[in-house]
Amino acid sequence: MAGNINLIINDQKVAAPEGSTILEAALRKGIYIPHLCHHRELLPVGACRLCLVELQGEWKKTVISCKTPVKEGMVIKTETPEIRQTRQVSLELLVADHDTDCLACDQNTKCGLQRVADHVGMDKKRMGRLKSRENRLPIDDSNPFFEFDPNRCVLCGICVRTCDELLNINAIDFAYRGLGTKIAGFGDKSRVESNCESCGECIVKCPVGALTEKGAENPTHQIKTVCSFCGCGCGLYLGVRDNKLVTAKGDINSPANKGRLCVKGRFGYKFVNSDERLTSPLVKKDGEFVEVEWDEALDLIADKFSKTKGDQFATIASAKCSNEDNFVAQKFTRAVMGTNNIDHCARL
Ligand code: FES
Repeated sequence: MAGNINLIINDQKVAAPEGSTILEAALRKGIYIPHLCHHRELLPVGACRLCLVELQGEWKKTVISCKTPVKEGMVIKTETPEIRQTRQVSLELLVADHDTDCLACDQNTKCGLQRVADHVGMDKKRMGRLKSRENRLPIDDSNPFFEFDPNRCVLCGICVRTCDELLNINAIDFAYRGLGTKIAGFGDKSRVESNCESCGECIVKCPVGALTEKGAENPTHQIKTVCSFCGCGCGLYLGVRDNKLVTAKGDINSPANKGRLCVKGRFGYKFVNSDERLTSPLVKKDGEFVEVEWDEALDLIADKFSKTKGDQFATIASAKCSNEDNFVAQKFTRAVMGTNNIDHCARL
């Protein structure tokens, strides 16, 4: 294929696009190389050291596959005794202070660390020998929508890079050094005191259970739809369980948002389940709001509109409405009510 580099991984012929890394080439071919800090949307950093592979022949050396570009004729082994031994130590370091109550973790069965451990294998006799912390670190639950549990963090830095590279917000970074390293807001302040915009993109990309949405339940099914909060038209999947909305997930195939969501699209769905939602029109009678049928409410509105003309009247249209709805609103305001007093919340 034109533009492809030919190489051999574990005795299999692989053709990978020029510029791709060994890890990308292997994963595309269905060859699993353990990895934790790699994310296809982010620049590679080589932090977890799990994706080691051995280059053979003229390149003979061990490299991390997430940062090494493919070259024509490369011969690669992803599983040698030396590689396995080194990975084992890398994994032991990663889990040394990691919580082991996987069943109580929201990411159980979806966890990147579980997948790596399953592949690399854990030697129970060696577990715990590298433990450096006696006490659990405090959970940061200051954000109204999600919490951060540093005891489940593997310091892959995916949340930091997501906030920096994809969102340009830089609300979090690595704080302290050595065994005391942790992810924190500027000055080790809580999330809610940082400049975090609560978009939740870091939760989506966290490969373990360190960042989790508060009160989220696993949906029984998902419905593809478009966010109704503004006119951007972001694609999303709403997760439903027991006839209630329990999750909102960005649609990676949507050209408008490519899977990303803002705070409103990601966490703003809970009003749908609220018992306080108005389900029928209210009309004020004798100073009290009273539930009425739609016909009565619309008749009342039409009656009041008919007694109002020109610049006595104004319309504020809504970004929650479609373009067509907003077109009708301005047409009604100008042609029927006879005024140019029409504005829109998004203009602000
Ligand atoms: Fe390569 Fe983490 S995935 S070092």
